[in-house]
Amino acid sequence: PKRVRTRHFARAKEQGIKITGLTSYDVLTAQIFDEAGIDFLLVGDSAGNTVLGYDTTLPVTIDDLIPLTRGVVSGVKRALVVADMPFGSYETGPDEALHTAFRFMKETGAHAVKLEGGVRSAEQIRRIVEAGIPVMAHIGFTPQSEHGLGGHVIQGRGDAADQLLADAHAVEEAGAFAVVLEMVPAEAAQRVTAELSIPTISVGGGPHCDGQLVVWTDWAGLAGGRIPKFVKQYANLRQVLTDAALAYKADVESGTYPDEQHSYSDTTAEQALQER
Ligand code: KIV
Ligand code: NA
Repeated sequence: PKRVRTRHFARAKEQGIKITGLTSYDVLTAQIFDEAGIDFLLVGDSAGNTVLGYDTTLPVTIDDLIPLTRGVVSGVKRALVVADMPFGSYETGPDEALHTAFRFMKETGAHAVKLEGGVRSAEQIRRIVEAGIPVMAHIGFTPQSEHGLGGHVIQGRGDAADQLLADAHAVEEAGAFAVVLEMVPAEAAQRVTAELSIPTISVGGGPHCDGQLVVWTDWAGLAGGRIPKFVKQYANLRQVLTDAALAYKADVESGTYPDEQHSYSDTTAEQALQER
């Protein structure tokens, strides 16, 4: 399959074709989502919650994300892989941001990077883009600033829509190829989508954006606990795996498994090879 490039994002917006994205943190889900035709995979710092067991994304480091990103890159033939830049890896300025982007591009083979912030991150985006690295921007609710924002709060309501629009224009002007709008009212997202020439990617941004992204463990019902309102659950993997674990335990304890069919007999090496 032909690789998804940033120009395909631009073309999709022009032609009114929606862009699909999922997070991924490992080779197997990357293969599955890639083969299903998902256009881009984000190796999000949401790995802090979904893989590493933290309460927030704040403790996640570059070194945490690099091996996960490498795994995802190795699983794709078509999808564009976006590496998420963690908290504390770009805020001090364009030099730090470019240094971090170089690490992800050189050490993982990702095709683009993502960082949080609009106006406040515009100079960082500009520097990374000038070095030839595509940047996906991320505005609205930005989880790395959850303490500053006072929790998981919807952004861009009422008068705050002006700030959202300013952030959106700033990242477009800085050269981002797409922008994530997280937890913003559908009306504000619609206005941003109409005003920008780059595609908008909804993460709780309503139906008028140019594409959609969700955290796959929420979307597939693997994560326990509370799931945000904007996530539609497409499977119940937590139940599937619970049932499998219970059945396995019962079989092992009762002696039903392993049985003859799942055991090796004392045959020659040649026969054993055929049996494997
Ligand atoms: O880390 C992440 O998964 C994200 C998206 C949900 C936007 O940043
Ligand atoms: Na993130």
